[in-house]
Amino acid sequence: MARKIWIAPSLLSASFGKLNDEIQDVERAGCDCIHVDVMDGHFVPNLTIGPIVVKGIRGATKLPLDVHLMITNPVKYIPDFIKAGSDWITFHVEVQDQVSEGIALIKKAGKKAGLSLRPGTPIESLKPYLEDLDLILVMSVEPGFGGQSFMPDMMPKIGALRKMGFKNLISVDGGIDPVTAKQALVQGADILVAGSAIFAKPNRAEAIEAFRQTIGECVK
Ligand code: DX5
Ligand code: ZN
Repeated sequence: MARKIWIAPSLLSASFGKLNDEIQDVERAGCDCIHVDVMDGHFVPNLTIGPIVVKGIRGATKLPLDVHLMITNPVKYIPDFIKAGSDWITFHVEVQDQVSEGIALIKKAGKKAGLSLRPGTPIESLKPYLEDLDLILVMSVEPGFGGQSFMPDMMPKIGALRKMGFKNLISVDGGIDPVTAKQALVQGADILVAGSAIFAKPNRAEAIEAFRQTIGECVK
């Protein structure tokens, strides 16, 4: 059987004035989980949402919530994001001295723990944690904003993680559309995060179907 590929619309490109409708729209269109981008204005130069909004999103869908923390102090806030109903929590390996404690907090709560890395960060930085991770999120843009151009030279990181023996989920995030997704899928990605390629399209069912076509071509 072909491996499961998850389509994860990133709410960053949704209309925040009607978030409930936006979530239901992509859920009806057949996405697999909802990607939630949390930014603190410090780790990245943008501010988005916190746990109270995640709690609201939790009430709008039963799909897994894939929460991507682009924040300097994840250990302080992970308990709040767990309480708010996150299922998968990913934070950045660049926070350094908080990594082990952050992973432990997430796993103790029975949630999936992920680490992400900025484009400039080598995959070797993940090596000490590989055994503990349920998910690795490879950034294919500089984190902080939706709608940026895909960086193809990040894709070999996915294949290299597979070669290092990482068998759990690999997610790719930034500039992913049905064309760029191919490069991630052939390297072994499982989760396609897409903001503008889904939410900037008026017909989300068609947008998700275009991803399914790519997946059908690349994943046997
Ligand atoms: C960027 C975020 C992404 C972003 C992706 O920092 O982590 O999830 O929303 O948006 P697109 O798909 O438009 O690049
Ligand atoms: Zn993200």
